[in-house]
Amino acid sequence: MKKAILIILIILIVIILLIFFKPENNSIDYNKSLKNELSKIDCYDKRNLNRYINYLDSNPDLYLEDVVIRVNLNLDKKFYTSTTKSSFLNKNYILVNKYIYLPEDYVPDNLVNAKLEYSRDGMMLVEEALLSFEKMYYAAKKDGYKIRIMSSYRSYQYQVNLYNNYVKKDGVDAADTYSARPGFSEHQTGLCVDIDDGIINYQSFEKSRSYIWMKNNSYKYGFIERYPKGKENVTGYSYESWHYRYVGEKIATYIHDNNITFDEYFILYIKK
Ligand code: DAL
Ligand code: ZN
Repeated sequence: MKKAILIILIILIVIILLIFFKPENNSIDYNKSLKNELSKIDCYDKRNLNRYINYLDSNPDLYLEDVVIRVNLNLDKKFYTSTTKSSFLNKNYILVNKYIYLPEDYVPDNLVNAKLEYSRDGMMLVEEALLSFEKMYYAAKKDGYKIRIMSSYRSYQYQVNLYNNYVKKDGVDAADTYSARPGFSEHQTGLCVDIDDGIINYQSFEKSRSYIWMKNNSYKYGFIERYPKGKENVTGYSYESWHYRYVGEKIATYIHDNNITFDEYFILYIKK
């Protein structure tokens, strides 16, 4: 009898040991192979390993490459936390988003006035971006479509007033979904435009004929949709069919062909 109890006890202990030790070994193996897979990704940064693992835990449906890109963008942290100053001032490939800001006194070089033919009064852009916009405007016109600049370069102070008004109207949480906080607006780079077709309000640009033309052609002139539909989790903004960013023809073509955001492109090819 005593012998039988002893045998049952031993079996129980073995089962308990198996339960406790096997999964741990498995998880060590899993973490090892996960680390191995992650480290093969081009923009893998070993300092972020634990953050990749945690992000994957809460986003198990993402591809590993997207996990790496998103964590490198700081998307595992709340918007406007862990912010850094942009390191590519006056470059076409400058990134400004909810983690990367421009200094209060930053005014881009070579700001020039847009012509009234295709713009609201007083609109300014960086010269290279404006020359490209102008080419795009004439190409659209030739095809029978109109595009018009409704907003372009905005100073830090302008954004302060704009953002504060939106907050008064809708509250901080809602305003943050469609308006950048001062210093965090791409409009301060002088490289982007909000456009309309001269007929319907710019916020309904998606419904215009010109929108289809822009979808098919803007990249040829170096302009991309900066806050695309379905990419709200990456850009941090709700869809803006009217907001186009100049990044130059090469980058714009890549982004268009691969259906990625500029944020993702930046991590993949600029700040590796
Ligand atoms: N509406 C864009 C996100 C801005 O305020 O810059
Ligand atoms: Zn805009």
